[in-house]
Amino acid sequence: MALILSLLVSYLFSYTLAAPAASWTSTPFSPASIPLAVRSPYLSAWLNQGGGTALNADWPKFWTGSIVGWAGYVKVDGTAYNFLGAPSVPGTTSQKAVQKSFGAVDLTVNFLSPVEPTDLVKQSLPFSYFTVSAKATDGKAHSVQVYSDISAEWVTGDNSLTANWTTTVGDTIIHQTQLENQSAFSEKNDHIQQGSSYYAVTKTSTTTYQTGEDVVVRAQFINNGKLANTQDTQFRAVSDRWPVFAFAQDLGNIQAATNPVVVAIGHVRDPAIQYIVKGGVLQNRSLFFWSQFSSVNAAIASFLNDYSAALTRAKAFDAKVQSDALAISADYAAVAALSVRQAFGATELTVSKQSNGSFNSSDILMFMKEISSDGNVNTVDVIFPSWPILLYTNPTLGKYLLLPLFEYQATGQYPNKWSVHDMGAHYPVANGHNDGKDEPMPVEESGNMLIMTLSHAQKTNDKSLLSTYFNLLDQWTQFLITDSLIPANQISTDDFAGSLANQTNLAIKGIVGIKAMATIAGLVGDSARSSNYSNIAASYVQQWQKLATSSTGKHLTLSYGNDASWGLAYNLYADKLLGTNVFPQSVFDLQTAWYSTVVTSVFLLILGNHTYTKSDWEIWTAALVSSTSVRNTLISSVRKYAADGSSSQPLGDWYETTDGSVEGFRARPVVGGHFALLALSNPSAVTDKIMSTDSNSTSPVQSPEPQANGALGSRLRLF
Ligand SMILES: *[C@@H]1O[C@H](CO)[C@@H](O)[C@H](O)[C@H]1NC(C)=O
Ligand SMILES: *[C@@H]1O[C@H](CO)[C@@H](O)[C@H](O)[C@H]1NC(C)=O
Ligand SMILES: *[C@@H]1O[C@H](CO)[C@@H](O)[C@H](O)[C@H]1NC(C)=O
Ligand SMILES: *[C@@H]1O[C@H](CO)[C@@H](O)[C@H](O)[C@H]1NC(C)=O
Ligand SMILES: *[C@@H]1O[C@H](CO)[C@@H](O)[C@H](O)[C@H]1NC(C)=O
Ligand SMILES: *[C@@H]1O[C@H](CO)[C@@H](O)[C@H](O)[C@H]1NC(C)=O
Ligand SMILES: *[C@@H]1O[C@H](CO)[C@@H](O)[C@H](O)[C@H]1NC(C)=O
Ligand SMILES: *[C@@H]1O[C@H](CO)[C@@H](O)[C@H](O)[C@H]1NC(C)=O
Ligand SMILES: *[C@@H]1O[C@H](CO)[C@@H](O)[C@H](O)[C@H]1NC(C)=O
Repeated sequence: MALILSLLVSYLFSYTLAAPAASWTSTPFSPASIPLAVRSPYLSAWLNQGGGTALNADWPKFWTGSIVGWAGYVKVDGTAYNFLGAPSVPGTTSQKAVQKSFGAVDLTVNFLSPVEPTDLVKQSLPFSYFTVSAKATDGKAHSVQVYSDISAEWVTGDNSLTANWTTTVGDTIIHQTQLENQSAFSEKNDHIQQGSSYYAVTKTSTTTYQTGEDVVVRAQFINNGKLANTQDTQFRAVSDRWPVFAFAQDLGNIQAATNPVVVAIGHVRDPAIQYIVKGGVLQNRSLFFWSQFSSVNAAIASFLNDYSAALTRAKAFDAKVQSDALAISADYAAVAALSVRQAFGATELTVSKQSNGSFNSSDILMFMKEISSDGNVNTVDVIFPSWPILLYTNPTLGKYLLLPLFEYQATGQYPNKWSVHDMGAHYPVANGHNDGKDEPMPVEESGNMLIMTLSHAQKTNDKSLLSTYFNLLDQWTQFLITDSLIPANQISTDDFAGSLANQTNLAIKGIVGIKAMATIAGLVGDSARSSNYSNIAASYVQQWQKLATSSTGKHLTLSYGNDASWGLAYNLYADKLLGTNVFPQSVFDLQTAWYSTVVTSVFLLILGNHTYTKSDWEIWTAALVSSTSVRNTLISSVRKYAADGSSSQPLGDWYETTDGSVEGFRARPVVGGHFALLALSNPSAVTDKIMSTDSNSTSPVQSPEPQANGALGSRLRLF
């Protein structure tokens, strides 16, 4: 028998497994890891690639690299083929699915992790689709049965712990698995130790299910082509005779193409987030979908029924990203496509309950895990690099991410005069830093908050953050006025580079932040403050140019007086994004010319005498340079890194320029920054209006022209 296996990940990346299995070709390129089911910090299953790993050559892995058991077989005319995972079943005969030259049946496997930026209910459902369809290609009839299972590794970071499980059989068949002893808001090896995994299908007359030991359940299918409809109730450790939760579907004798078998896979916990409110009170928050569904099972049934519409939306979304990004370059489109699921997969949308127990669906907050670097909650300088994808897809999501930071600091519990670094040391506990001892990045985070807040107002015309949190914004600005022209010895977001006084790039951020507040003050009608801050920013730029330019006049330094040093001055992007134009075009031109002389390595450099870089900052820089060829070189260097086959983990944004080897980060949401060029492409009327009122009147901002669907960004501005 013969099989072609193709894997489509939401139609952005497609893979064809050809004979022999080792030749696994990918379009547009083979990334370091392919997102299979990536929707939250705890539903994060990937197929790690390295030089290219077939779907049935290894197990799917959690973002950390630990296995999440997920196996698939298909029987064609009585012969079993393994198409997913790397199971071994003693005493049975099966083959790896590979293409044969006389192919008679094609199997198409699709993994779809929806991204639904404008539908909060759908975006907050922590489920992905896995579909399998078969097609006879020789005009003859073939008997086909499809099988898949998951293990209990999806519910814990410690396989020695005891799990229990139930199977609910109705119109939908749902396998639910959880730890017997759960701890709320607690992680082990970055897996949450709370909540349940779900594996579910819509029941048909030929659906069978079974739970039990891996080798027993898989052998049952391999030998019989169907399952026993039985449940193993001997609850035990995840690794004790590995319990698996399986479905099989008999597709019958197929002569043409079949409809896909659709499986939902997910992980749900409730409450999801612990969040500090006034007076140190800890509030429980639930995933937003709970405000619309009475149970997880009802949500799953709705999710399964929605598959075909979800697929249509996913194709439209991906096509929009591709067409916008292709207007920059094919390399850019490839990098953007790879980044979408990773960026959204670090976030969760939540809602609180009122005192009477009903959900308050006007209290929406979004949370983001700083995956892999330290697990902080809503880190300001991680939201900041991710920001462009939110502006491009739905800037209101950005507001939901900033709100926890604003609300917390407005309670007065945070003691420092600059912006807090994050909402909590470890996800999913957002309990603030009442001791003021968060990682100190005073200029970085204060500038970031001001820049993001203004850009949200510009893209949405929603000025509520500006007025509600005016005092906080002003407090941070006054701090920037004291510490951004001559920044004290401190770390920036690139904290791995260590601390340094007088950082040129940090000063840029602070100055743009001050100018952003001038604009904000103008928008809320405080014209005196607006013109004061505008004057201060303008005067700082003049002084900064003298301090920050090397004595040769050829480039900006990394830090004042450190003449030979240089770096990627990526914070200039904010001046362009906001349209504040506080830095003269000559500064952009100077750096553009300089980058063109130092691009000796295809991977470029970020900081003077270090040889590493970050993909987000390379793309930010690409978005601000004044030469298309320098822009394209920067983009292509990131694409080259992402496709170089030397890494086997979800994309790492921090890497060596000498050989493309990855540094300590992976799976971080900052890849949302790869949308920096697309976030600039929304030159709506509101931007000009805001600019013209900033140091003048209190005239209200005009509504921008409505966007096509309120969401997917709009036209692309080329350079
Ligand atoms: C599984 O464990 C959870 C948590 O202890 C418990 O609430 C539930 O009733 C158990 N389920 C079964 C089927 O034993
Ligand atoms: C349950 O888990 C907690 C925290 O992980 C642990 O302290 C406790 O001993 C466990 N209880 C049982 C019965 O295993
Ligand atoms: C919050 O959730 C935790 C874990 O389920 C629970 O122990 C606690 O009682 C809840 N707190 C409130 C105020 O409901
Ligand atoms: C809770 O109060 C809200 C109004 O604040 C009301 O709409 C809702 O029906 C109430 N829920 C219950 C369960 O009483
Ligand atoms: C619902 O949430 C909104 C926004 O946070 C808040 O202003 C309002 O007071 C809340 N309503 C109730 C009844 O808790
Ligand atoms: C920072 O730059 C200012 C202005 O050149 C200078 O006076 C100061 O000494 C510098 N600080 C450090 C720590 O080098
Ligand atoms: C401008 O703002 C700075 C910083 O808050 C303040 O010290 C100064 O007095 C203000 N100047 C005017 C004219 O209001
Ligand atoms: C560069 O190298 C020097 C000497 O090894 C070191 O002191 C300095 O911290 C390094 N980094 C930067 C950014 O200059
Ligand atoms: C302020 O607005 C008025 C009327 O719109 C305009 O004539 C004037 O030039 C503006 N002033 C500044 C400083 O922009």
